[in-house]
Amino acid sequence: MRRNTIVLAASALMLAACSKQAPAPQPAPEVAPPPSPAVAAAPTITPVDVPAGYGYPGDRTEFQAWADTWQIDNITTAAWNLWAGMTSDSGQKWNGAVLPVWETWCGSEEVFSATGCTTLSKPGRRFERPHQFGHVAKLLGKTAKNDEGQVVSFNKFNPPMVKYLNTQQPGPGGVNYNYVSMQSLASLNAAWPAETPISQRTVVEAPYQSDEGSTQGYTGMETKPVIFIVKASGLTPMPLWMGPKASTNAANSTPNTWYNCVLLDPTAAADPAVMPVPATPEQIAQAVASPGLSCKNYWYAPLATIYSFQMNAAEAADWNNVANNSGDSGQGLIASAGDYGVLVGMHVNSKAIKNWTWETFWWQPGKDAPNNFPGSKAGLTDNVAGAWRNYAMCTGWNQTQGNASSKMVVCFNPYLETSSGIPAGQTSNCMSCHGVATVGSPLGGTPEAPVLPSLNYPPDYKKPINFDTDPRYSTFTKTDFSWAIQGDAINLPATSAAAKP
Ligand code: HEC
Repeated sequence: MRRNTIVLAASALMLAACSKQAPAPQPAPEVAPPPSPAVAAAPTITPVDVPAGYGYPGDRTEFQAWADTWQIDNITTAAWNLWAGMTSDSGQKWNGAVLPVWETWCGSEEVFSATGCTTLSKPGRRFERPHQFGHVAKLLGKTAKNDEGQVVSFNKFNPPMVKYLNTQQPGPGGVNYNYVSMQSLASLNAAWPAETPISQRTVVEAPYQSDEGSTQGYTGMETKPVIFIVKASGLTPMPLWMGPKASTNAANSTPNTWYNCVLLDPTAAADPAVMPVPATPEQIAQAVASPGLSCKNYWYAPLATIYSFQMNAAEAADWNNVANNSGDSGQGLIASAGDYGVLVGMHVNSKAIKNWTWETFWWQPGKDAPNNFPGSKAGLTDNVAGAWRNYAMCTGWNQTQGNASSKMVVCFNPYLETSSGIPAGQTSNCMSCHGVATVGSPLGGTPEAPVLPSLNYPPDYKKPINFDTDPRYSTFTKTDFSWAIQGDAINLPATSAAAKP
């Protein structure tokens, strides 16, 4: 309930921020002007899609065959190519720094709002504790421990996905539904005729359009970037994943339990190719005190080995607000303007195939984790540039290792699904959990703070879920694998003219 209040307050702020923008429509600049105190108008960020040359959106028939028959080498190459494309230079800048393509995308706060999102006046980086954790607290009466890793994240959506979410979509009864409104989603679920087959109890699927001749296609993409901080001065220890055994807690190996930490140096030459080396006693003496961490083995590397952006005062305040309110100790650091937000991990999916492609990336400079668990840098393609080469990946394009196999895929992000707030996270796969993303009716909570019902997370990952026939769906509506629709939808009366048909 507290979350709903936050979302509402946030969208009110958003409206206020939007109304300050110059009203006259201007041609979108190819390159956003660098922010300068002399320029009065707020700079604009124009969301751009993954450019041509990276195999995006991909051939659905081909990709589906790879997922069905577990052609893992082809899947790995396609996933690294997508990473190369989404991290490529957008040609736009913010605070003097080049924005990778995904940074130009609208965030949950802008998309799930009464106005929707077309351009941004600042990067969509509203920090929040992943709902993923609180979600279980709500559904299963279980809660992530407060002393677990400080994880601050948000969701971002590529332009075709935003257009889909901000357009009213047809549904039962010849009515259009608004997927950013809790009320509209609940009435969608209530409107299915009793005889509707489970396979059809779903929102309209997210878009996929294949390439046509020389015209590039497109498809819905979603991301969940995870941000830690590095202080502007001193050497900030950054937890380095080396598997569940290099942790004080093998069952729930959250980042604050990891033994290996890299001291990141913002003053070192900005070379992302320099690999971590064992830290000297002098370097360890300069470590920024991070009371929440379990560092035993210290490494040293330039800050440039990880994607970072310098926080302004508002972002730092926002980050601290989440850190304080969630009660996490995590890194145990307070952010100030000028400190760096660093990308420790990022979930990515794309509607290239019916049940989406799933890939997750985490910071892994130098050696891969033992047994490449749950993934590695193997197969990294040459088009991945700079610090983006220092991320390991696993993929989960199917629940099992091919349709003919009963062997479950295990793919999780060590920064996220290690939380005790997620059942069996270290044996989880993305598709099974997102496949139960659903909305129900009627709304719970109160009119001021409604709660949109959904199915529980899978309690384990022992066998695949049949998304077309599982009887648990019979009173719910599937949200096409998007937990964001269920979790980020706002308190917005269905009659509101928000999204346009
Ligand atoms: C235990 C359930 C669970 C597992 C496992 C899981 N997720 Fe999620 N995921 C969620 C929930 C809930 C949200 C929405 C709230 C949030 O952002 O925390 C979410 C959000 C996301 C988003 C943002 C858009 C959306 O669909 O909501 C992406 C992208 C994503 N996850 C990808 C992945 C990938 C890739 C994996 C596997 C490596 C994965 N997830 C594993 C529950 C899960």
